[in-house]
Amino acid sequence: MVRHVVPYRIKVVEPIRLLTREDRERKIRAAGLNVFRLRSDDVYIDLLTDSGTGAMSAAQWSQLMLGDESYAGSSSFYRLEDSIQRVTGLPFVIPVHQGRAAEQVLDYVLMPEPGMVVPGNTHFDTTKAHIEFRGGRAVDCTIPEGFDAEAAHPFKGNVDMDRLRDAYKEYGNAAIAYVLITVTCNSGGGQPVSMENIREVSTFCREHDLKVFFDAARFAENAYFIQQREKGYADTSVRDIVLEMFTHVDGCTMSAKKDGLVPIGGFLALRSEALYEEMKPTDILFEGFYTYGGMSGMNMDAMAQGLLEVVDESYLAHRIGQTVSLGDNLRRLDVPIVTPVGGHAVFIDGRRFFPKVPEDQFPAQLVTVELYREGGVRAVEIGSCLAGRDPDSGENIRPSLDLCRLTIPRRVYTQEHFDYIADVVATVYAQQQGRTTGLAFDVESKGIRHFTSTFREL
Ligand code: F0G
Repeated sequence: MVRHVVPYRIKVVEPIRLLTREDRERKIRAAGLNVFRLRSDDVYIDLLTDSGTGAMSAAQWSQLMLGDESYAGSSSFYRLEDSIQRVTGLPFVIPVHQGRAAEQVLDYVLMPEPGMVVPGNTHFDTTKAHIEFRGGRAVDCTIPEGFDAEAAHPFKGNVDMDRLRDAYKEYGNAAIAYVLITVTCNSGGGQPVSMENIREVSTFCREHDLKVFFDAARFAENAYFIQQREKGYADTSVRDIVLEMFTHVDGCTMSAKKDGLVPIGGFLALRSEALYEEMKPTDILFEGFYTYGGMSGMNMDAMAQGLLEVVDESYLAHRIGQTVSLGDNLRRLDVPIVTPVGGHAVFIDGRRFFPKVPEDQFPAQLVTVELYREGGVRAVEIGSCLAGRDPDSGENIRPSLDLCRLTIPRRVYTQEHFDYIADVVATVYAQQQGRTTGLAFDVESKGIRHFTSTFREL
């Protein structure tokens, strides 16, 4: 019995190539042992991100021709608005060019003065950076299981209600700009949030007159996990689960580069007309007129179609199936990964992969370097380098997990690619797990440092 039917066939191909080992060694050294600094031509299988890297469908490509490039009142915007309203049930839509632009607009309006906080489940790095840019702080209220690579919990992205209550006690209503639920929780390993938890957070926020938003980048994947794992939802369609999820929030920020199935795009969706009116001028200031917000008409039409395709259950079953099966294969080969496997990526636990490499020598970053050396596979560190420094003390933050993320682009790679990836990871693990030294910064960039810093081997 076939578990997951592949719900597409390939119509257009994009050539990729594997450099020789000597060339890979040269390239990674020239890149300062930072895979962000590699050229994509020098990468064989690119698992850096699932952001903007998916394949568009024939229907999306055909929609591009409908793009209306009018500055104001573009019909593409109205098609996008209709699609977002149908999928989320939220009535007011502000387009932006990508997720962090939505964060900028939201924080500009909801964090008018410094000293405000945003409690939530492990905020994504740009999300946290935008909050800090407004003089605020992100307060991480993820459940303890979310910080344990092996804890068996079906919804490790959940918000810990006690921590949320504590945050409320500590900061009070006036200092809490809003509460943010990231679905799925990227930084925590692509882990989902349960409907029960969403409901609890929402009830708490309504009782205490707090706004609550989704960071909805992977909302469809989260809904699929609810259908698969949460009691009472097995017979509910993903579309209905998505609609129910959004009934519990005041709005969302969205990076459509993920579950919008487009190379670029994003939006804010809101329940309150007053907030919508307040955010429109901010969108104009940062992004463009509020019926295009940094996107072309073509972009908006492709996104309108992508949002309808992403809630298709055969698509989601195959998509999550690819991720889970890569995780299962790695586990069979004894590679230490975060379990249960999340939606968009398999996360290798760097500290267990290289148990003898000291924690402050970036074991997960070392894994990414070695995967490129071994097989031209580009993964990404989500760990000590990414975590950066504490904005108050200036000290290096030591995150509870130091991870190397194998991020799966949507509708791009085949089972043969996945078999190859598993071979590469298993080979590095088998041959190098005894390593005793890791990496140190050569040049540490200021601010968000993982994109540009360079390293040396110790
Ligand atoms: N929120 C989440 C949960 C994200 O994963 C991202 C991006 C953003 C917001 C920002 O969106 O890139 O469109 O501005 N994550 C990408 C990643 C970059 O690789 O995980 P953006």
